[in-house]
Amino acid sequence: MNPARGVGHGKLILLGEHAVVHGQPAIALTLREGVRVRVRAREPGAPASETEELRGAVAAATAALGLDEERAFEVSVEGELPVAVGLGSSAALAVGLVRAIAAHEGRRLDRETTARLANEVEKIFHGTPSGIDATAASQEGLIWFEAGRPPRWERLDVVVPALVVALSGARHHTGETVGGLSERAGRHPEVYRPIFAAIGELVRAGRTALEQRDWPLLGEIMTMDHALLRGCGVSTPALDRLVEDARDAGALGAKLTGGGGGGAIVALPADSPETLVANLRERGWTAFVA
Ligand code: PMV
Repeated sequence: MNPARGVGHGKLILLGEHAVVHGQPAIALTLREGVRVRVRAREPGAPASETEELRGAVAAATAALGLDEERAFEVSVEGELPVAVGLGSSAALAVGLVRAIAAHEGRRLDRETTARLANEVEKIFHGTPSGIDATAASQEGLIWFEAGRPPRWERLDVVVPALVVALSGARHHTGETVGGLSERAGRHPEVYRPIFAAIGELVRAGRTALEQRDWPLLGEIMTMDHALLRGCGVSTPALDRLVEDARDAGALGAKLTGGGGGGAIVALPADSPETLVANLRERGWTAFVA
């Protein structure tokens, strides 16, 4: 029998990561790059070849779909999304898995249900996901997202500017940066709450800048967001250098994207994204047009 298939997309957080976990809005963009999952029933007694982490994700997806936990699936995963750099590879995998297992069972899921179930799977990768990754991984385009039960999101009907992604060279672990920041914020809410609120204001101003196609202002807002994230302790010296290099190489603004602590930045080119990519590569960074 042919395997059942499912696809999940990567995402790029344009503004608002981390503060989104603490009740603020965020803006994210679905990437073309993603993860393709193939699933078939495992023969009884056949050994599992998947990694432990993937087996855990399959078990979580099986449970999220309400299937008997004894059900065993053989799973293969492929894709072009860099892993553990803040581009939502775990959520893309979660969405791909939920879709593929649902297809295997002859079920069709709408996007909301897909995102909700995939977010349950995401919890095994990082404890308290806001839901933004799973939502972006199951949608298309630019989305405005607010965490909650249920989360509230809407598609933003704006022109998406050309963006450049550059990698710091270090992998990150979202659970650690999110957990560390939540712990610091819990200890001193009087210090962190106003910063999260300020990031929320930047996200709102960023939405207006997007709607008005005010790219210089959007760039300023991105760089400001990075400064606040840095203050929150989720940046690294390499990410800070990369942000400076991007601005020096002609970006209107730049910031870390995703969980931080390694991973990637997103930069808004002043003119040609290819020129910015070339300039960053000349400085030794891995960069590409998103
Ligand atoms: O690092 P990523 O791609 O998993 O991005 C996570 C975004 C955070 O805001 C840091 C966490 C979350 O769940 O919203």
